[in-house]
Amino acid sequence: MKKIAIIDSGSGGLTVANVLFDRLPDERIIYVGDHGNCPYGNKSPEKIKELVFGVIRFLEQFELKMLIVACNTASALMLDELKARVDVPVIGVIEPGARMAAHATMNRQIGVIATQRTVESHMYRKIIQENREGLDIHEQACPKLVSYLENEDTPEDAITEALEEYLAPLRKEQVDTLVMGCTHYPLAEQQIRRVWGSDVNLVDPARETVAQAEEVLRKSGDLAAASQGEHLFCTTGDVPDFEEKVRKWTTISRPVVRLAKTGT
Ligand code: DGL
Repeated sequence: MKKIAIIDSGSGGLTVANVLFDRLPDERIIYVGDHGNCPYGNKSPEKIKELVFGVIRFLEQFELKMLIVACNTASALMLDELKARVDVPVIGVIEPGARMAAHATMNRQIGVIATQRTVESHMYRKIIQENREGLDIHEQACPKLVSYLENEDTPEDAITEALEEYLAPLRKEQVDTLVMGCTHYPLAEQQIRRVWGSDVNLVDPARETVAQAEEVLRKSGDLAAASQGEHLFCTTGDVPDFEEKVRKWTTISRPVVRLAKTGT
């Protein structure tokens, strides 16, 4: 049975995988987390591309039906290059998230929190404005968050303090819609809501991303008709550590986890 590949710099893409498990329970995935090189978001675009192409080379040994780039940073920098490189449909997370945000705002002020490289690409701004005119987009890089969230020993206070720093400028702009423009950030959704308060539409691009994947597979007749086989989780980092995260952060109780050799 062909699998859907989901890739991320680390564990953030599990937030997308969770939506897929819920919405498309018959599909089987191969997840690759490049934990050995995480975080991507502060690295140079050239380095990020090199790392992601390493992940793509690793995936060549598997039979795939689709690639979901569950990493905003890679989606922002190289989605077209990935589409040209692989011969299955490629879905990124930015376009679906941008579309959701454009239609959610009432006061036309949208905030985007993301990695440094995603913010510098201005891809969210561009695609949100293509979806709807007359919106103001306020982008905020949150360079500390990914490492904080990957490391389960990070004290709660450090995350709250970082969020207060990053969200303050967006609160000043009175945004009514906030895009979690990094797949790691939904892991901190409760803290984000606590720091911001209740008066914001919090956009997690995962739901729309999986809806788009479903639509593409339905049109091509490639939706799984019945479940068969296991999900496979691969990491370039520490296998037991990732296994623990998959158990804690997804609904998969006995995940198959392997080491991924990406050649980087
Ligand atoms: N989770 C990824 C993203 O959505 C990458 C974060 C990182 O490694 O900095 O951007």
